[in-house]
Amino acid sequence: MTKAISVATKTRQIVKKHGGDKSAMIAVLQDIQEAFNYLPKEALKTASKAMKVPFSRVYEAATFYTAFSLKQRGKNIVKICVGTACHVRGAAALQDKFERTLGIKPGETTKDKNFTLETVNCVGACALGPVVVINTDYHGQVTMKKIDKIIDKINEGGA
Ligand code: FES
Repeated sequence: MTKAISVATKTRQIVKKHGGDKSAMIAVLQDIQEAFNYLPKEALKTASKAMKVPFSRVYEAATFYTAFSLKQRGKNIVKICVGTACHVRGAAALQDKFERTLGIKPGETTKDKNFTLETVNCVGACALGPVVVINTDYHGQVTMKKIDKIIDKINEGGA
């Protein structure tokens, strides 16, 4: 098992990787989010110091882009596409099924921090609708049965 690394240390490594330059702020924020699945406040403070950018500027960028999350999220991010093509193919029923199975609403995280549920508008794979993206995996033509299988697989540590 890898040794746990502190938020500040990891953030400093990310800033360094991008040359410590403030022009790389968005790329730095993207990497921080990839590392922690959200943007911890401590990471924003560390990045602000390391890049010599006022905290308000970093915070502004972090809140401007919807792709960034300031709220702690689960280990697995479940994104249900509710765009038009997926909607007509039953996305609402899938959303309902995920909500009941995980016991959370979109924007919420399970108590065990294993899952965060989100809805998105079109992920560019309309022909495969309804689409659910779990972390970086696209699942197409998702059915109720498939949802149980997907969740079981993740709970068993297989996804
Ligand atoms: S509407 Fe769902 S992928 Fe386009």
